[in-house]
Amino acid sequence: MQRYAVFGNPIAHSQSPFIHRMFAEQTGLQLTYEALLAPLDDFAGSLQQFFTSDGCGCNVTVPFKEQAFALADELSGRARRAGAVNTLIKLDNGRIRGDNTDGAGLVSDLLQNNVPLAGQRILLLGAGGAARGVLEPLLAQQPAELAIANRTVEKAEQLASEFADLGPVVACGFDWIDTPVDLIINATSASLHGELPPLAPTLVKPAQTVCYDMMYGKDITAFNRWAQEQGAGRTLDGLGMLVGQAAEAFSVWTGQRPDTAPVMQALRDRLA
Ligand code: ATR
Repeated sequence: MQRYAVFGNPIAHSQSPFIHRMFAEQTGLQLTYEALLAPLDDFAGSLQQFFTSDGCGCNVTVPFKEQAFALADELSGRARRAGAVNTLIKLDNGRIRGDNTDGAGLVSDLLQNNVPLAGQRILLLGAGGAARGVLEPLLAQQPAELAIANRTVEKAEQLASEFADLGPVVACGFDWIDTPVDLIINATSASLHGELPPLAPTLVKPAQTVCYDMMYGKDITAFNRWAQEQGAGRTLDGLGMLVGQAAEAFSVWTGQRPDTAPVMQALRDRLA
């Protein structure tokens, strides 16, 4: 029986065991997946214990993604770009490889929802870890322009310069932009506190612009409510990204790609 887990603190709320157990059922693979609470001051110890006692791979969530990045023996290119690791795998030679599937999860959810990305004007809100993690896979889709807007403009400028070799990426403040865009992705943590970045309503092309909040919950998020009030074409929340990153991690570990649609449906029912 292969053993997998997710580490975080807190972790009790994690939907990952539910998701991965559904993937295992679907693919017929014999594996266990549990949520493990790592102490805030000893994530490294918990990880070492897991991998020395037959752990094959794990996910890592808040607040340990940067530590996982530092602790991995080797890194995938996308993890190096993201500066954070959400997926660890024990290789046959015993080395621990760090990967990051968050950005791939977002892009696969967008594509699955038929949201065009190539040639589009994309606005990414936020310049923290969540924004950094999705920049490489978004730019790989060849948008016409990707603007990063952040409350602290210097952080957006820093990110834009780090990723400038991958595509047309620019930085701005929230109130510097008012011309309509095709897609707005909220990667700020403002929604967590029910807050909203101060955005110009003219950014939303009525009945066209797609708005995506990386947050999700039982109720519509503050950002998606704002988007609907501006007449956005569609609003999507981060549940699809959650399932998408999990599917990508599952395929890194097992080589099998699960079908995300039934898992999404089951999760929506669970959250309702
Ligand atoms: P995460 O890993 O979730 O990205 P983070 O690295 O702490 O967390 O980044 C949080 C992001 O949300 C930042 O872009 C932050 O803006 P600043 O860089 O200016 O701090 C943004 N953010 C948090 N609360 C916000 C709010 N109330 N309004 C606008 N932006 C906010």
